[in-house]
Amino acid sequence: MLPIQEIVEKENLTKEDIVTLLTVKTKEEQDVLLQKANAVKEQFVGKKVYLRGLIELSNICGKNCFYCGIRAENNNTKRYNIPDEEVVEVIRFAKSNQFSSVVIQSGELCNFAFTKRITRLLEKIQNISEQFRVTLSLGEQSEETYREWYNAGAQRYLLRIESSDRELYRTLHPNNKLHDYEARLKCLQVLKRIGYQAGTGVMIGLPFQTFENLADDLLFMKNLDIDMVGMGPYIEHEDTPLYQYRESLLPIKDRFDLSLRMIAILRILMKDINIASTTALQSIDPEGREKGLLAGANVLMPNLTPLKYRDNYMLYENKPGVFQDEEESVVYIKKVVNSAGEEIAQDYGDSLHFKKKRQF
Ligand code: 5AD
Ligand code: SF4
Repeated sequence: MLPIQEIVEKENLTKEDIVTLLTVKTKEEQDVLLQKANAVKEQFVGKKVYLRGLIELSNICGKNCFYCGIRAENNNTKRYNIPDEEVVEVIRFAKSNQFSSVVIQSGELCNFAFTKRITRLLEKIQNISEQFRVTLSLGEQSEETYREWYNAGAQRYLLRIESSDRELYRTLHPNNKLHDYEARLKCLQVLKRIGYQAGTGVMIGLPFQTFENLADDLLFMKNLDIDMVGMGPYIEHEDTPLYQYRESLLPIKDRFDLSLRMIAILRILMKDINIASTTALQSIDPEGREKGLLAGANVLMPNLTPLKYRDNYMLYENKPGVFQDEEESVVYIKKVVNSAGEEIAQDYGDSLHFKKKRQF
């Protein structure tokens, strides 16, 4: 038996085990890991894929993360903000295409007008249908704001920790109060306390990131007892400060494989959570999202942002789907699900992990 086979069958993976799994050298060994993860997924969450329509509400951002193409100081981006009426149209479209959930994502803004705008938008969505789950991904906010949005109908919140290592986090962000690791961590705890299904995630293959960092990221998600995860490869963007380190990165194909292994190990560690197969995977490999599903992911987030805004939400280079409109996005995503041998789930797709916790 391959040593890898023994490790994936273990009851509890140690950090050392995780590093071994992350650094496998052969395709044969990687396949052992991915197949085990897929089997765990089938057993605990089934061969069902949950669809979340993604709406990139605005690329206006007050922050300056060193890796991100829509950072405030990037003057090469045309800024936009989708009006409520158009968002409501997208929601109607999503509902009539069997989506039971949308994710509203935007650059990070913290001000009274933005908070109230989101609250009103949530109320409008509730008016269309109470039978609709909304996930927000709007960055760090005050507890009061998180509560206001929860009460207005948002049930889920995604806030990636980006890297769980304090030092690396500091390296990837300006050193100021707006980009503070402890504040971000506190937000995740507050979200959980309020009652949101809370999601987090990291970027994989960042400059200065080690395999130990990545193993710690997975253990961080487990310790935080998170309900959902979205993580994917780091992809350089030329208008960002981190671009200068591009020569030091793992080759792009290796970042892709490493991301699949991260998904697979997370599935083995946290059997019943929701894990997204992210767009960043697809930007490296046209079949990237199918491969993510086969490595243990169970959520896809087709982009439903109206086409005219799409090419301005460039977090990284070669972001795919820029020329695919909403209809094409839906047709395409059904193909992705079929080619992974799975089917689209019909229920809301609340994290099983979250539901189980609620029963006690
Ligand atoms: N490569 C990959 N992912 C990125 N993100 C931002 N910039 C990049 C990049 N260059 C991710 C971050 C953020 C999410 C909205 O997009 O993880 O949380
Ligand atoms: Fe803004 Fe998010 Fe990009 Fe950071 S990662 S610059 S908060 S959009």
